[in-house]
Amino acid sequence: MLRRTLSSILLTGLLSLSNSIFAEGEPRIIAGPYLQHTTQTSMVIMWETDTPCISGIKYGKARFRPSGQKGKPDLAKILDLNVSSIETRTIHEFTLEGLEPETDYFYQAHSLGSDGKKIQSDVLIFQTAVRATSPFAFVVMGDNRSYPKRFKQLADKAWAERPNFVLNVGDVVANGKNKDEWIAQYLGPASELMKRVPTYVAIGNHERNASWFYEYSSYPSPENYYSFDYGNAHFTIVDSNADLSPGSEQLQWIIADLSASKAKWKFVAHHHPPFSSDKDDYGNTDFWLSKRGDPRVQSLIPIYEKHGVDIVWCGHIHDYERTWPIRDGKVDQANGVIYIQAGGGAAELEQFAPTRSWFTAKVLRNWQYCLATIHEGTFRMMAYDLDGRMYDYLELKK
Ligand SMILES: [Fe+2]
Repeated sequence: MLRRTLSSILLTGLLSLSNSIFAEGEPRIIAGPYLQHTTQTSMVIMWETDTPCISGIKYGKARFRPSGQKGKPDLAKILDLNVSSIETRTIHEFTLEGLEPETDYFYQAHSLGSDGKKIQSDVLIFQTAVRATSPFAFVVMGDNRSYPKRFKQLADKAWAERPNFVLNVGDVVANGKNKDEWIAQYLGPASELMKRVPTYVAIGNHERNASWFYEYSSYPSPENYYSFDYGNAHFTIVDSNADLSPGSEQLQWIIADLSASKAKWKFVAHHHPPFSSDKDDYGNTDFWLSKRGDPRVQSLIPIYEKHGVDIVWCGHIHDYERTWPIRDGKVDQANGVIYIQAGGGAAELEQFAPTRSWFTAKVLRNWQYCLATIHEGTFRMMAYDLDGRMYDYLELKK
């Protein structure tokens, strides 16, 4: 998040300012534009240029074509609002505010380099967050790192679902300290999706808590953990790399966040899985017993049970597993919490333990993503593999 007060940067017609104040360089957009945090009245848009630029966004509410109008539209009429900044930067971030809920807007990003040359994105479209009574859909995927071709295949499938947003359970790059990977492994392969659909990331271990995670992201503070509402659901995003021991700052925040939410549906996302049937991450099952869950997040389980969390989304293990509803260490179909490990997002697959875990409802060793849909008290989740086959389905009613 580039912490900046919008009031200080709202300037009209700024892109015609004198060239002399800018550094050398001809601009090229090397990442994005892409969408981050959205609410019913706002949208965050980011992009990166290869040289320092001043930038802006032209945007406008989508309308029907006026009767009798033929040919290409006058873009100035479609993009009739704008926001711009006098700051010279390479990573550009704007929050469009005062938008209408559940409404389509066209937008176009502009950057102006030191030589007076201007670059602009295509005219793109986004939709603000839906009203609390409206149906919506979101994709869950994760562990997309290291294999950008495969990730692009899955990201394009996710885009084909036309979700309202994407929840990514982390490890979007192999090494978060390598700046180039953020474009090569994440923002580049997912560009068709991310320029039209907001993406929320739960930070993984491979992000290494690097500054680039914060530079390329814009989520509610402090960004490595945060929460947001969408429709009638509340999403709590946890940093499972950080301290989650009793009394820790983040654990206190999670309790307060879940206690405060009155949303019909409560979801949590973090990278490490509290329950997992992985073959050797939690004890090598060739020779020993496995703990069948990540020790880092065990402290969260009673909190989720106490505060009525419906589903915990996680990754880290590179395949799919859905648990039965769990409460007090056993299956409780009426009052349990479901854990879905959706880590088949591109990285090399892992193997399951040779025997079934007591909590397992479904496993799949393949690359995959999940699509969740919600309307009022009905939740449905379809899980698809790389070839588009639906291999798991879940319906919850409340
Ligand atoms: Fe991981």
